[in-house]
Amino acid sequence: MSAANLCADMKGRRVLVTGGARGLGAAFASALIQTGARVVITDILDDAGRALAQQLGPDAHYLSMDMAKPEAVRQGVDQAAQWLGGMDGLVNNAAITNSGGKDMQDIAIDTWDQVMAVNVRGPWWLRMPTSQPAPPGGWSTSPRTRPCGVRPA
Ligand SMILES: NC(=O)c1ccc[n+]([C@@H]2O[C@H](COP(=O)([O-])OP(=O)(O)OC[C@H]3O[C@@H](n4cnc5c(N)ncnc54)[C@H](O)[C@@H]3O)[C@@H](O)[C@H]2O)c1
Repeated sequence: MSAANLCADMKGRRVLVTGGARGLGAAFASALIQTGARVVITDILDDAGRALAQQLGPDAHYLSMDMAKPEAVRQGVDQAAQWLGGMDGLVNNAAITNSGGKDMQDIAIDTWDQVMAVNVRGPWWLRMPTSQPAPPGGWSTSPRTRPCGVRPA
């Protein structure tokens, strides 16, 4: 069954996908577009993010937004909501993903700090009140949440 069949209720929904330039975030963005949603993709991989948004068409837009920088996050959320004309949902997906599976002594303090800034502080700050109100029912925060129940094959 296609994503479009499973997710008819996403039509016209306005969604921000963080860390959407590649990997699961790119798959979330593509699935959302397939279901008729409008999507802003943010990331620090600007070339990949822009290329993906272009490939997905006029309902997708890319914005550069570094989750480690509170001011960039604040501006990014505002710009995303402006482009979308509001916001209905958030896929809080951006993360540093190559720092796990190491012994404690093999993790540099700088790496620890960067992971905390991106993976922990970033999502917390993303949900701080901005000039944009939270969507009805609040923000969805789990990177593991599949958009509108797309099941693995
Ligand atoms: N792949 C899995 O099996 C799996 C399992 C459970 C949870 N997750 C979670 O799903 C999410 C995506 O995982 P993935 O496997 O696609 O990883 P990935 O590394 O391919 O994607 C992460 C994205 O986050 C972006 N990112 C990194 N630092 C950033 C920053 N400072 N600001 C903005 N964006 C930044 C990266 O550029 C990348 O596009 C992560 O939150 C991960 O923890 C993944």
